[in-house]
Amino acid sequence: MNDPGKNIESVLTENRQFPPSSEFSAQANIGSEQQYMEMWTKAKDDPSGFWGELAKENLDWFQDFDTVMEGDMPETKWFTGGKLNASYQCLDRHLVGPRKNKAAIIWEGEPGDQRILTYQQLHHEVCKFANVLKNLGCETGDRVTIYMPMVPELAIAMLACARIGAVHSIIFGGFSADAIADRNNDAESKLVITADGGWRRGKEIPLKANVDAGLEKSPTVEKVVVYRRTGGDVTMTPDRDYWWHELMDDVDADCPAVELDSEHPLFILYTSGSTGKPKGVLHTTAGYMLGTTMTSRWVFDYKEDDTYWCTADIGWITGHSYITYGPLSNGVTSVMYEGGPNWPDEGRFWQLVEKYQVNIFYTAPTAIRAFIKWGDQFPNQYDLSSLRLLGTVGEPINPEAWMWYHKVIGNEKCPIVDTWWQTETGGIMLSPLPGVTPTKPGSCTKPLPGVVPAIVDEEGNPVEEGGGLLVMTQPWPHMLRTLYGDHERFVDVYFSKFNGKYYFAGDGARLDSDGYYWVMGRVDDVLNVSGHRLSTMEVESALVAHDNVAEAAVVGFPHELKGEGICCFVTLKSGDGSDAEKEELKQHVRKQIGAIATPDKIKIAPQLPKTRSGKIMRRLLRDIAAGRDVSGDVTTLEDAGILDKLREDD
Ligand code: WTA
Repeated sequence: MNDPGKNIESVLTENRQFPPSSEFSAQANIGSEQQYMEMWTKAKDDPSGFWGELAKENLDWFQDFDTVMEGDMPETKWFTGGKLNASYQCLDRHLVGPRKNKAAIIWEGEPGDQRILTYQQLHHEVCKFANVLKNLGCETGDRVTIYMPMVPELAIAMLACARIGAVHSIIFGGFSADAIADRNNDAESKLVITADGGWRRGKEIPLKANVDAGLEKSPTVEKVVVYRRTGGDVTMTPDRDYWWHELMDDVDADCPAVELDSEHPLFILYTSGSTGKPKGVLHTTAGYMLGTTMTSRWVFDYKEDDTYWCTADIGWITGHSYITYGPLSNGVTSVMYEGGPNWPDEGRFWQLVEKYQVNIFYTAPTAIRAFIKWGDQFPNQYDLSSLRLLGTVGEPINPEAWMWYHKVIGNEKCPIVDTWWQTETGGIMLSPLPGVTPTKPGSCTKPLPGVVPAIVDEEGNPVEEGGGLLVMTQPWPHMLRTLYGDHERFVDVYFSKFNGKYYFAGDGARLDSDGYYWVMGRVDDVLNVSGHRLSTMEVESALVAHDNVAEAAVVGFPHELKGEGICCFVTLKSGDGSDAEKEELKQHVRKQIGAIATPDKIKIAPQLPKTRSGKIMRRLLRDIAAGRDVSGDVTTLEDAGILDKLREDD
């Protein structure tokens, strides 16, 4: 396990419980333990009946499905025979009633500019942009890369793709040119949608320049659409690059949603696995839409007049599922903010909560730890009394941070939903229901209806109470269908460990005597840096691509703000590793992958500690990176003296 160390100790002694207030339960979408248990049991015993009814009631179908579920994991197909459209689900069906002129997106840019798009206006823009895509030759099934700042046009672009059945592949704006090229090539993208730049902590992120560099190595891309956000200088390549606003001038807003099969691919989203090559997680239309629609309604307890804010970037799965598809499908008003939480000062988020009277606030533990560090004076300056529900996602939350969130932000009256899920699961899997589940700080509590998890040992035997590996024993509609272009890897990564019987999440977890789940962290070579997944192998391959690096091993270590930091042990071909050389290596990784992968520590290693058979002993490196005494057996180490040398380089 990658170093859950401190958190395990603190959660093991955690026994506080926070039941929802009776007022909250009385108004909640799911309001009693009995209702939850009935739903959960029905979904477990009769998944077809459970999901089939929900799909009929909550999705709009152009053509009804014949079968709810077909086939065993990992090849389960959902709602076959049905036809629908995700953009229709998020937009058109709201236009016939009072939601037509309701705010769909309340957007604020980092410099303080604001825009509000009603459902009708958003529909209008999406239809126009879908026509732009068609005019550029984009067809149903084509892959489209989106690399944009957090502006409404990002949501418009994704919904326009969905409208014509093009498959979007969104790349987080913090990724580098090389990462863009890799993803373009893997998905064989035909078109890229980007912007001149975006604002982040007062600086302009040069998105178009990154795309230009990436396109030198992306032969499949034919056209680029550029949205003008910052007004910064960009180079436009004739017959390849087009301005968004010019294209939008020339199209009308009549664009019926294409009637797509339930299993039509909706999007690809790349995420890190335990090898160097990112995995193109593929989600399909009906199952994903049903999953995000229902889980957001259950977990965030949406009400018609709620203002909901998820602070994630749409470049990650959280933004896909819980800024765009889930909230819009429910007709909710969703706040979208472009910039950093500490710009112009550390009170920015709380200023926005007060200004827009946010009721539901969903963020990440890494952000909460930063808020704590910045000090209570920032939230205390603002009126946060509109908040009624808080959420977290992305990594285990340490109980201290949970308590701070509960007291300082939630004023001890807001339930906290600690939601465990993954890019692959498409939607929330384990989470409190805010009107039902007594919460325990640090635990994501219990499975949602339709989710049947288990903790098993290495052989797949169930662990009733205690620690082990987290698996899913039944398929669910919003699970990934494949890794794009590599179905074999999909089966291998998620299903081979237990011979196809279970979906293996890659996380270690513990079950307590109340049946609560406590997720401890990854058990593979995946790091969780500020709630984002990075593979140690990805960083290692970036390092060895540097001329002066002979060998590299990368491990995580506990980091106060990021949860996990990146420590690189590097053997150089020449030189002794001056500070300037270390800095160069950090910048090299940053350039190859992106800012999120910037190493926190580079340690120069004359050699890496290996077993006699040549395997790098990562366990030892993790101890050294964390500044701990090396635990366990070192007798298999080839050169025992090496550890002292590694410790010296700090
Ligand atoms: C971790 C993010 C503990 C976990 C939605 C998982 C969590 C990985 C939690 C997925 C949580 C996510 N408690 N750990 N509430 N939520 N994780 O694909 O290790 O970016 O496997 O999806 O984040 O990260 P991903």
